[in-house]
Amino acid sequence: MSRFPSLVAGLLLAVSLSAAALRGTVTDKSGALLPDVVVELVEGAAVLPSVDTLTDSQGRFSIETDEVGVAPKVRMPARGGWSFQVERAGVLRLELTRLDGRRVAVREQPVAAGRVVVGELRGLLPAGTQGVFIGRAMLSGLNVATGRFATWGNSGVGADHIVSWTPAATKIVAPREAATGTWSVALRKAGYIGRNLSIESLSADMGTIELLRDPLEDRIDSVMAGMDLADKLGQMTQGVIGSGSRDLGRLKLGSLLSGGGDPFPDHAALQAVSLATPRRIPMIYGIDAVHGNAKLAGATVFPHHIGLGATRDSALVRRIGEATAQEMLASGTDWAFAPCIAVPRDDRWGRTYEGFGETPELAAMMGAAEVRGLQGAAGPWTVLACAKHYVADGGTTFGTGTQKTSLDQGDARISEDELRRIHLPGYRAAVRAGVGTVMASYSLVNGVRNHANRYLLTDVLKTELGFDGFVVSDYLAIEQISPDTSDFRASVKAAINAGIDMGMEPNRHAIFLTTLRGLVDDGSVPVSRIDDAVRRILRAKFRMGRMDSPYLPNFVTSPVGTPDHRALAREAVRKSLVVLKNDAAGRAPLPFAPTAKIAVHGTHADNAGLQCGGWTLGWQGAAGAVKGATTILQGLKTVMPSAQIASGATQVAGADVAVFVLGEKPYAEMRGDLTEAEFADFVPDAATASLLAAYRAAKVPVVTVFVTGRPRPVPSLLAASDAFVVAWLPGSEGAGVADVLSGTHAPVGTLPATWPTSASEHPINVGDGTTAAFPYGYGLTW
Ligand code: BGC
Repeated sequence: MSRFPSLVAGLLLAVSLSAAALRGTVTDKSGALLPDVVVELVEGAAVLPSVDTLTDSQGRFSIETDEVGVAPKVRMPARGGWSFQVERAGVLRLELTRLDGRRVAVREQPVAAGRVVVGELRGLLPAGTQGVFIGRAMLSGLNVATGRFATWGNSGVGADHIVSWTPAATKIVAPREAATGTWSVALRKAGYIGRNLSIESLSADMGTIELLRDPLEDRIDSVMAGMDLADKLGQMTQGVIGSGSRDLGRLKLGSLLSGGGDPFPDHAALQAVSLATPRRIPMIYGIDAVHGNAKLAGATVFPHHIGLGATRDSALVRRIGEATAQEMLASGTDWAFAPCIAVPRDDRWGRTYEGFGETPELAAMMGAAEVRGLQGAAGPWTVLACAKHYVADGGTTFGTGTQKTSLDQGDARISEDELRRIHLPGYRAAVRAGVGTVMASYSLVNGVRNHANRYLLTDVLKTELGFDGFVVSDYLAIEQISPDTSDFRASVKAAINAGIDMGMEPNRHAIFLTTLRGLVDDGSVPVSRIDDAVRRILRAKFRMGRMDSPYLPNFVTSPVGTPDHRALAREAVRKSLVVLKNDAAGRAPLPFAPTAKIAVHGTHADNAGLQCGGWTLGWQGAAGAVKGATTILQGLKTVMPSAQIASGATQVAGADVAVFVLGEKPYAEMRGDLTEAEFADFVPDAATASLLAAYRAAKVPVVTVFVTGRPRPVPSLLAASDAFVVAWLPGSEGAGVADVLSGTHAPVGTLPATWPTSASEHPINVGDGTTAAFPYGYGLTW
């Protein structure tokens, strides 16, 4: 268990300002000045740039290096407080982050100009936290001091250990002479080959930088030269299996999908239809492979994203992406509507589990990793990925839900600063990782539908972030734009002009096409917009190799649900478990002794469907069997062959320990939204509660394994349990839970979202100054 010997706290640097700049001019091969080139200044292999800008109409850029800095190599002294100089009064924000950029503590305090002493930092850290940290103090968003490390005993890291500094997205100000990092400038613009240039100084004039037009654009030109308007509008339309498949050839649709509970396609037969059209442009096939290709019977079902967020292991997420891509290809699909990189800020939202956690750092780090995994390391892409739902789907205000529930598809009433700080970094990281598509969100931002928001879709996503793939609308979302839903024409016009490139129009593909045709014919949608959309769609089809190899690979041995993939999922499960409590009157009930007599109870103990959650076999998921899955009870029996494991509805006599596996029933989207009353204290049914009480009365330690898509207030259950383990929605590999309970593997998961004490304090997130039952980053081990 964690203890705190002495905190090594430290001292850092004062601000030093100067007006030096990094500048240059970007042109194409012919010397023409290129505007709107994304220019990013990046340190090392950072997920996010330190600073980014766009070239102006003259192709010029300039980055003030006052905005940038590098943490100095200052070692914190072994004891004592952290002190530094500030030049003016204000509210000082203190942050401690781990080396991977995760923020573990924040405190704000007013300060006067002069020397500030903030005292030992350990008081800022959640109980039980140990390790190596970066301390940062900021005034008005600018760093005034940065500590290179802090570490204390029992962490396995010596007190004198010097670690290299990992940059976070925050802008750091420090003297340039202290710079120790490796910096590079990344440039990109749609249609051009991106460049990365390493630089020796942060205040250099880089002169003229040439970007070459991507030769792929010539291939796109030649395909587009042969297309008429009907061909182009067809590419911009996605139908659904069934009605869409029937019209695939006649309307030359660019894509099909299997939504919610739809069956899987005969890909080869459908592709043959597309290839028989005059332009022979291959179709692509979309599916919600959001936690593995989980709608396919027999597929490996990985933990939902929230569990992966708890692992903090982006390499693992990347491998999961790779495995998912293989299982998709074998099922006739090549476009994953994943990763969901929502940053859920209110756990009452029914889609909380689809996000990696409540911070932008998790969305950026894990989202980029999943994109890389799905699309593959080298070209052509394995499958096409889709970052969703753009943007701030996880930031909607309680009570604004438009589906008769509290939050889903609601309005994010937030400042632009919050939008950019919390909800945008995931997209910046996904774009930098090369994501091929982005799905717009049903939700609104300050009263404007995302599907109709030209500023956010075109100016921010495509221009400022440099996204050169295509934007797909969400399922029949376009028709929601116009307040008068019968005015489909107004909705389509608004969506396409705002920047939607492909309409996901299940059963409405034909009307969408006719409507769009009418809008182009009368000039309401410019042809240039259509050409841009089609170019983006073809670009993605080329990059995934589909233009050259229309058919999917034939697998000699099916990759679906293989032992390797299941082992990977099991590894993810055990790394995702978060232990919140492990104490029975001073004795830890976990891990179990190998020969213990273990009583196992609870709705979720032997039910694969419940442990997989929504988006499994169908849209909402369901209780019951999942082909090839191992339940938590089965996992315990396999992992602990010498233990006596008994289960059932009644009390097991002579048990050494009782395990209750309980939790939420499967749900997806708006159906998982909760009211404040529903969110209050999660309690098991009466029979389970009395069984639990009986064990407690008999002094048998009770271990609760909580299967949930989100943090929930559980004061009663927590008080009634001697140990409490959050398993999230682990998926098909229940043995991963047993790996930890049995002591085979120590728990490593930490909370990806703040755990609330009660419903009334919601929303609650790290850094907002509230006190939680368990803070972001909390997790016990042994
Ligand atoms: C969801 C998307 C999903 C789409 C296709 C929508 O209801 O919001 O996340 O990708 O359906 O199934």
